[in-house]
Amino acid sequence: MKKLIIIKLGGSLITYKDNPHGRFRSSVVLRLAQEIKKINKNFDVVVVCGAGSYGHPLAKKYSLKFGMETAEQKKGFSKVVNKVANLNAMVLAQFEKADINAISLLPHSFATQEAGTFAGFDFTLVKNYLESGFVPILSGDMVLDSKWGCSVLSGDTIISYLLESLSAIKVVFLSDVDGVFTNDPKKDKKAVFIPNITNKNFSEIKNLFTQESARNDVTGEMIGKLKEIKERFSGTEVYIANGYKRGILNDLISKTGVRATKISF
Ligand code: IPE
Repeated sequence: MKKLIIIKLGGSLITYKDNPHGRFRSSVVLRLAQEIKKINKNFDVVVVCGAGSYGHPLAKKYSLKFGMETAEQKKGFSKVVNKVANLNAMVLAQFEKADINAISLLPHSFATQEAGTFAGFDFTLVKNYLESGFVPILSGDMVLDSKWGCSVLSGDTIISYLLESLSAIKVVFLSDVDGVFTNDPKKDKKAVFIPNITNKNFSEIKNLFTQESARNDVTGEMIGKLKEIKERFSGTEVYIANGYKRGILNDLISKTGVRATKISF
């Protein structure tokens, strides 16, 4: 097997995240698929997509974060799962255009959680597809939950689980900003870019985000991501980078000094 790179295509990158009617950024995904095609010559690649506007607004509308009981919520569960599947089909279509043999693996059909905690799945399927020369494309999804009925399984959780089972040399989280900032750079022009996160500055950054997270979601989400990376990804090179930048994936593999946040614990 070739060395493995895991790439997250964040929901805010591949969809118009705040648009409740979905909307897919096909040209961004096609360009990234073309970049992945090149990388795939030398590395195995697993792609994990976020759900963006195809998941979060509906999951919120039907209050599905902590389970489902009512008939209305069950209707909502189906709707989110179907929308995520639609999004995934659109991603796959762009990968096909880029001449990649991609395989869709949607977690609602093989993964479960218990009270919001991921219960795992048989990763050998992912491994077998990689060994057969495919690019598996997974996604954040709604899944059945043995305590609550259902819960949200994020793409980030899938990645940390995959890392426990398959060793990757790099994990790249692609989003719509250059990396980690002291505040949400889309809202605060004075937000300062943080190029490196290590054991040395982690607690300082954590404190900063804990204060900020009361004010906005982005930094709150970011600290969750960083904690997960620290707990589970130690020893792997992790980047948070801007997927809108042409050539970003190749740059991260072959160049130094690329603007992105490098996380090493
Ligand atoms: C969320 O997945 C899944 C659902 C809401 C159904 P992610 O948490 O990985 O998605 P993004 O990247 O934040 O959009």
